[in-house]
Amino acid sequence: MIDGTSFVYLDNAATTQALPEVCRAVEEALRICYGNPSSTHPLGTAAEEILRHTRRLLAEFLGVSDRHIIFTSGGTEANNLAIIGTAMAHAKSGRHIITSAVEHSAVLAPLAYLESKGWRITRIGVDAIGRVSPEAVAAAVSEDTVLVSIMAVNNEVGVIQPLAEIAGAVKKRRPQVLVHTDAVQALGKIELKPLEQGIDLVSVSAHKLHGPKGVGALWHRPDLRLEPIIHGGGQENGRRSGTENVPGIAGFGQALRSAMAMGQAAGERLAGLRLKLIEGIEEIVPRSALNGPRTSHAAPHICNISWPGWTGEMLVRVLAEKGLYTSSAAACSSRRKNKGGQGSHVLRAMGLSPERVQSAVRFSFSLYQEEKDIDAALAIVAEVAKQLDDLKRRSR
Ligand SMILES: Cc1ncc(COP(=O)(O)O)c(C=O)c1O
Repeated sequence: MIDGTSFVYLDNAATTQALPEVCRAVEEALRICYGNPSSTHPLGTAAEEILRHTRRLLAEFLGVSDRHIIFTSGGTEANNLAIIGTAMAHAKSGRHIITSAVEHSAVLAPLAYLESKGWRITRIGVDAIGRVSPEAVAAAVSEDTVLVSIMAVNNEVGVIQPLAEIAGAVKKRRPQVLVHTDAVQALGKIELKPLEQGIDLVSVSAHKLHGPKGVGALWHRPDLRLEPIIHGGGQENGRRSGTENVPGIAGFGQALRSAMAMGQAAGERLAGLRLKLIEGIEEIVPRSALNGPRTSHAAPHICNISWPGWTGEMLVRVLAEKGLYTSSAAACSSRRKNKGGQGSHVLRAMGLSPERVQSAVRFSFSLYQEEKDIDAALAIVAEVAKQLDDLKRRSR
């Protein structure tokens, strides 16, 4: 999408490029609708209308009412609000929370914080493709369980979790347990219908869907008790204080509208491109191994492939030198230099060998990806494979 560039960007799970119409919406909100949405004059009303419009679009996307959407500074804050907010509000009923071993740090870190304050956290393991078993989650529910938090789509391997089955199994054991999902990687990529799936809280973020960075939202089921974690002027129904990021929210609304216009066919097309890349790499690098699902339970925009013999960090660097941008782990942790040298917690939870964990590369697509990008990416992979083979031969 970036005109005149000489690279292929396959790191869309880290972030996406804002669409031109999103940039226009952000700019208009900054320049024209610059009022404070809490002000009562026409400029305030115009800004408030932007919030209302985006709320309505997100509600339509999720098949919910727009009355229970709280704008946040992104997916991280939405997860913190969902987890800490419900834990605080339900502390008298119990202090046990269940999650999976493969969550994003925006879920694992607030849970670790609660653990340090006396909450009990159970982290459920996954199978070889990264899926959580609904039965295992339900079996962990006890009398003091207040919340289950399981992501919709894993950001490293793209596996889709069986959310409806998890929520069903949990609520069968204990109907009052709340179920939260971090749907940051799912919004616009797979169908999300929290009311039908039995989900009580959903976190989303705009920048994974060609919207601006620094804006997201938390939807919650009506009548749900949630303590605010940011206190101040009482915006967002008292649940998230601070003047709303009106330009960001305007861009989020436009990103949602554009994703909606793409329709369901976009996901199917993307799944085809993903498979083409996987099969192409398998042909070029016979020792490569796909980590996570191939087709069933696979989100259409993420695949994770190990290239044994080399480290993921090195492969990402060499691929980038040739113009293919990928990542070796979740983007936010990849700059932290593989703390402790153990590699991705997701791949380790899947039971992969240390060599496979260390040599993993994530390729992630945008809804707007084209076939020619995959062809160009495969040409770069072939060039790098040849270069690395030569290097190995010379070092023998
Ligand atoms: C699954 C998941 N959850 C949460 C986040 C954090 O979202 P944000 O960057 O909007 O804070 C990300 C971003 O990488 C993610 O992939």
